[in-house]
Amino acid sequence: MVGEITVQELDAERFVKEKAEEIKHTVGDGWAINALSGGVDSSTVTMLGHRALGDRLKTVFIENGLMRAGEAEQIVGFFRELGVPVEVVDAREEFFAALKGITDPEEKREAITRTFYSSVFGRLVRESGAKHLLQGTILTDIDETVAGIKRQHNVFEQLGIDPQEAFGYRIIEPLIQLRKDGVRKVGKALGLPEALFNRIPFPGPALAARVIGEATPDRIETVRKATEVAERLLEGCGAFQYMAILHEDRVTGIRDGKRDFGQQIEVRCWESVDARTAQPTRLSFDTLEQLGQEIVASVPGVVSVTYNIASKPPSTIEAV
Ligand code: XMP
Repeated sequence: MVGEITVQELDAERFVKEKAEEIKHTVGDGWAINALSGGVDSSTVTMLGHRALGDRLKTVFIENGLMRAGEAEQIVGFFRELGVPVEVVDAREEFFAALKGITDPEEKREAITRTFYSSVFGRLVRESGAKHLLQGTILTDIDETVAGIKRQHNVFEQLGIDPQEAFGYRIIEPLIQLRKDGVRKVGKALGLPEALFNRIPFPGPALAARVIGEATPDRIETVRKATEVAERLLEGCGAFQYMAILHEDRVTGIRDGKRDFGQQIEVRCWESVDARTAQPTRLSFDTLEQLGQEIVASVPGVVSVTYNIASKPPSTIEAV
């Protein structure tokens, strides 16, 4: 495998030129397809692919039911302004059917991977006639998968899986030598607005990575509401990443003078450079208190809010 390019070594303009040439060469006169989630990696790879292939790259946004509130509209809107058409594909039922009854974290990730690559993408690729899937895998994804920490949804070759054999298409991964800081630099060089290249990271398995236990539509909706509050209150705090997590355990609370055996939300806010190590942000107690008050007030069924104070490692950034 080709080695790491650190952010200090990275010449973003040259990187874009070289990778665009490579993509053009690999795809030849065929078509490629890519899934845009709106995260830094997939947004950057979308711009890079369009630079290389123009109309011969079809970009889709898979609505898997696990995204944040208003995410599809917002991302499609951003890219419309950049002149990149994005088709929204509704696959909510397929994802929730695949997640039904699963509580183990790795099995959950596996179910999302299978649904994404085999069912949804398999169909899209067949319909579009594309032979290549362009995707924004980065070095950290590979490190963690190979180390057996978390199976990132987008890593195959390093696990001995041949995508051509398994899914019927080839995968092109132009960002594989970079870490998050390098990807941001490339995204900026490609003309992404700051709201995209500086967006806080969001994982491929989306809100399912933030629900401990079964990711049902109701439980995803609970964490989605808590996420809205956490992101609104922590936006601009300068942290690397922040999130809300729904716990599986219930705790006793009181509502309207009655016992309410309710749900718990954990807030995490991380200081990190490249996601390999991370420390909890020293948020003010006023901010923490506001998070607690607003989450219990606006998320039905939640009676407890905690803040994570452990570092990575041994913690990880996402909970699943
Ligand atoms: P962890 O939780 O492993 O996360 O400490 C490290 C960074 O990676 C993001 N993350 C993912 N990104 N696919 C992705 O594209 C995934 O499956 C995935 N899991 C975690 C996470 O948000 C953090 O920035």
